[in-house]
Amino acid sequence: MFIIEGQNERTAIRSMPGVERLSIDLAVEAAREAAAAGIPALALFPNTPDHLRNENGSEAYNPYNLMCRALSAIKEAVPGIGLIADVALDEYSSDGQDGLVRDGQILNDETVAAMVRSALVQAQAGADIIAPSDMMDGRVGAIRQELDAAGHEQVAIMAYSAKFASAFYGPFREAVGSGARLLGDKKTYQLDYANIEEALREVAQDIDEGADMVMVKPGMPYLDVVRRVRDTFNVPVFVYQVSGEYTMIRMAGDAGAIDGKAAMLESLWAFKRAGAKGILTYFALEAARLLNP
Ligand code: PBG
Repeated sequence: MFIIEGQNERTAIRSMPGVERLSIDLAVEAAREAAAAGIPALALFPNTPDHLRNENGSEAYNPYNLMCRALSAIKEAVPGIGLIADVALDEYSSDGQDGLVRDGQILNDETVAAMVRSALVQAQAGADIIAPSDMMDGRVGAIRQELDAAGHEQVAIMAYSAKFASAFYGPFREAVGSGARLLGDKKTYQLDYANIEEALREVAQDIDEGADMVMVKPGMPYLDVVRRVRDTFNVPVFVYQVSGEYTMIRMAGDAGAIDGKAAMLESLWAFKRAGAKGILTYFALEAARLLNP
């Protein structure tokens, strides 16, 4: 779910028909519907107001930021649903990169320090699962250590471990307002899609640092990676059917070019077949209602 400031506000996302950004009060209602439909957990992403974005991404560790207020509101109103908090700077920084930038270079270790602070405020606000999506090296171990030291041993880490530098994230970047800011690409930290061995090394490293679950992302073009990770490691593997995948199925269905509902279910089954234990998808509510009428 994409979160915005305001009361009773919903805004359309041009490149994601059927998905809206919601103010916190409406997100709470949506969380109720999701819980009633049997969805176990929600992943939240804030669209931070422009005036709070800066080059340090410092809003990421403001304990009263939009994300934290959404986490606490949903936790209080719908305690039965799990909350997954994305940790990355692109949702807070003025340049759309997941890391801090100096002279055109991403600063790995400084970014990790900011991620740790961000994860802590999210855990305090009620996140059940911290999901670092930034792909900096060493962030899982650093976050685990700080969470434990602060008494959040029960908060789990879902590491975006095999996250590829993908064209399929475009609609998401519109949704959180980072796309228009982004100069260049994310190829110095997200993975090369030609290289599966590097993806396996990243997964091994995240497990070694304490990840409870690992994620492969995007989904459909990377089913081979899901299968390899599932067969190689003994931790739950999740798959993220990302925004561009959602949009392709949705727009082709809306245009009458394919049967959108059938294609949606077929894509979700493909994830299960490939070995995924869990699926993050923008189709969650629609799929849950179809599967459990
Ligand atoms: C933030 C983040 C991204 C996505 C999830 N978390 C964007 C990116 O890495 O550029 C993409 C999700 C989607 O496309 O649905 N780092």
